[in-house]
Amino acid sequence: MTSPSPEALAKLTPVLTKRWLSPNAWRIDVYERLDGYAALRKALGGGTSTGVGPVHPDDLIQLVKDSGLRGRGGAGFPTGMKWGFIPQDSGGGSAGKPHYLVVNADEGEPGTCKDLPLMMTDPHSLIEGAIIASYAIRAKHAFIYVRGEAVHAARRLRNAVGEAYRAGYLGRNILGSGFDLELMVHSGAGAYICGEETALLDSLEGYRGQPRLRPPFPATHGLYASPTVVNNVETIASVPYIVLGGAKWWRSMGTDKSPGPKIYSVSGRVNRPGQYECALGITLRQLLELAGGMQDGHQLRYWTPGGSSTPLLTAEHLDVPLDFEGMAGAGTMLGTTAVQVFSDQDCPVYATYRWIEFYAHESCGKCTPCREGNFWMVQVLRRILQGKGSHEDLDTLLDTCDNLLGRAFCALGDGATSPVTSSIKYFKDDYLDYIEGRKPPLLAPDASSPTELAGAHR
Ligand SMILES: Cc1cc2nc3c(=O)[nH]c(=O)nc-3n(C[C@H](O)[C@H](O)[C@H](O)COP(=O)(O)O)c2cc1C
Ligand code: SF4
Repeated sequence: MTSPSPEALAKLTPVLTKRWLSPNAWRIDVYERLDGYAALRKALGGGTSTGVGPVHPDDLIQLVKDSGLRGRGGAGFPTGMKWGFIPQDSGGGSAGKPHYLVVNADEGEPGTCKDLPLMMTDPHSLIEGAIIASYAIRAKHAFIYVRGEAVHAARRLRNAVGEAYRAGYLGRNILGSGFDLELMVHSGAGAYICGEETALLDSLEGYRGQPRLRPPFPATHGLYASPTVVNNVETIASVPYIVLGGAKWWRSMGTDKSPGPKIYSVSGRVNRPGQYECALGITLRQLLELAGGMQDGHQLRYWTPGGSSTPLLTAEHLDVPLDFEGMAGAGTMLGTTAVQVFSDQDCPVYATYRWIEFYAHESCGKCTPCREGNFWMVQVLRRILQGKGSHEDLDTLLDTCDNLLGRAFCALGDGATSPVTSSIKYFKDDYLDYIEGRKPPLLAPDASSPTELAGAHR
């Protein structure tokens, strides 16, 4: 294992993660001691006793616009602009409808593991961000939708929400400002599609989680057909820091179009997998150094920049900036910054097969290209790995992707094409090795699940 150089260590930018190593950082007393709820006091004016008035909600929206904060849930949509889409009439509602804030804590994208540690170690930063965001968009009800399997995170959040109510940060007349907010933690039932914002809203309303047709968009017709902002955990947890530090300070990190710090989740064949918070624009080479380098005997062969829905990159892309523009320029996406590192010992065909099994399993079934396409891609990939594939199978895979990308009802279908098209682009010979018999079959002849391996080689 290599130790990071001082230059690499200087790349670490602990903002959202700054409390993670403090003992009991999830407790409200520790959080308050470490600047916690100072941003809320600033936003709400600290109550009438301080003589400092509240910041106007529109000014908070402008501040977030000025900071350049972009959504951390995958698509990178500008957060301030999203908040600004909510019809902001002075009565606190549009056409008599309430406004809602929904925090997306579903975190289901393969490889993504940043929101859960954030909620486990520093839940109050998310709660504080949710209160400020709700105040800015004039919402009196907010929800945190937590992935069903993350029982531990939901429990920790509920405890923290209880602490915040008792301390007067939630409920009626928060800090004497006249602002009221009810915050509810809701557990899903464990479905990747419920991370898609409109499926999430259906699930939150008690229906089966399936994407809605857009338009209308959640900004006008979201939860209970009312104006709703849906934001990722990391996005909302960034808000208190922007309120305290200001837009200029936030912009001093990262790049012009991708400002601020970002939590990169590094996993796979590295010596120290984990969360590394760095300014947007760091490269994989620098991240690898922070993560202790590749494991002994492993050479980098391919990697995902932001989960399995983002096209694979290779060792050629070690120095491309990991920001929205850099990744787009390399033909992929920043996604959730789930950097999964694979080596020369990890078969890209097998990895693709495992990912497509996931998409086929998680497809909600609403539209034909995704429901059928993923099912058939699993069959074809399995056939190839069983040594029974043909050259036409590669065309069939690409043709299926062609019928999926841009033709599916939601982005789950688009994302499923990423591992297939990018692995064929960079590693076609690996497919041909199975098809032309140069490599022994990896899957047993009658395998019907990804774990039924024919041998040890991959
Ligand atoms: C299949 C699918 C799963 C998604 N899962 C998540 C998720 O777990 N968390 C998340 O924040 N966004 C997820 N998204 C993106 C959301 O639809 C939405 O764009 C995001 O929550 C917006 O928040 P942001 O603007 O703060 O990034 C998913 C999208 C798709 C298509
Ligand atoms: S693309 Fe897949 S997940 Fe999305 S609506 Fe269609 S079937 Fe459902």
